[in-house]
Amino acid sequence: MKNAVIPVAGLGTRLLPATKSQPKEMLPVGRKPIVQYIVEELIRVGIDEFLFITGPGKTSIENHFDINHELVQSLREKGKEEQLAELEFDRFHVQYYYTRQRQLLGLGHAILCARSFVGQEPFVVALGDSLIGLNAQSDIVQRMQRCFEAHACTAVIAFEEVPEHEIPQYGIARPKSNDVFFEVLDIVEKPEREEAPSNLAVAARYIFTPKIFEALDRTGVGKGGEIQLTDAIKLLIEDGERVYGVRLNSNEHRYDIGNFESYFRAFIEFALVDEKYGASLREYIDTLKGS
Ligand code: G1P
Repeated sequence: MKNAVIPVAGLGTRLLPATKSQPKEMLPVGRKPIVQYIVEELIRVGIDEFLFITGPGKTSIENHFDINHELVQSLREKGKEEQLAELEFDRFHVQYYYTRQRQLLGLGHAILCARSFVGQEPFVVALGDSLIGLNAQSDIVQRMQRCFEAHACTAVIAFEEVPEHEIPQYGIARPKSNDVFFEVLDIVEKPEREEAPSNLAVAARYIFTPKIFEALDRTGVGKGGEIQLTDAIKLLIEDGERVYGVRLNSNEHRYDIGNFESYFRAFIEFALVDEKYGASLREYIDTLKGS
C-alpha cells in the first residue's frame, strides 16, 4: 500500500478564532504542526504518495511540505545546523498531491474526490485533525494493513473505546467479538448514547479498497446534512463485504484536535515529553499547581 488520502477541507469552526485564517491541521502540537506528525506516521509504515483534499485557506499546508530554498540557504550561510535539521522532513522522498473539495458536502464527499488518484489500489485515509499516540508514535496503520491482508477485507477501521458522553461525537461500531482484530457487524454515525451499539469509536484511520467509491456513489445525505463516510461503510457491510476493526492499544490514545479542550491537552502532553524543554515545563507546571 503506497497511497494515503488526508482530508483537510474542514473549516475548523470549533477552534475559532485560532483557525480564522490558518488551517486547524497547521496548529502546532509541541514543535510541529499536526499534519506533519500525520505524514511522518504514514511514511514510517511505507506510504509514499499523499493526496490532501483541501479547501479555501489551506495553502499553508502545501507551503509546509515544499522545500523553502531561501530559508535553507540562509540557515546554511549562518551555520545554523540545528535548525537545518528541523527542516529535513521536507526532503523525504515522497510525493504530495493536492485537490480541492469544491463543495463542503461532508467527509464521504471529500473521499470521493480521491477516486482517480487512487485508481484500483487499496489506500489509507488519515483524518487531518487526529494524532494517534504520544508524539504520534503509533504503528496502528501497520497493524491495520496486517488485518487487511489476513482477512481479505474491503475496509479496516481503527477504533478506540471512548467514555459514554463522547459517543455522540463519533462513528460507533457493533463488533462481532472482543478480539483485537474484529469483524464490524454494523456502524452508526454519531448515535445518541441510548442507541449506540458499543463505545467503540472510529479513530480517524481507515484502509479501503476502491469499492468504497461505489458505496459512496449510493450514499445519500446523512447526519448533519452531509454525505457521511460511515454511511458508505454501512452499505459495504450490508452488501456482505468484509469490514474489520482494529483496536488502539491501551497506551495509544487518539488526540482529536477538533476542539480547544483536547487541543490544549494534546499540546501539554506533547510539550511535556519534549527532549529539550519537557523537564523544565513539568517543573513550571508544578509551581503553578502550588499557587
Ligand atoms: C469523522 C467521522 C466519524 C469519526 C470521526 C473521528 O467525524 O465522521 O465517524 O468517528 O471523524 O475519526 P468528524 O470529527 O469529522 O465530525
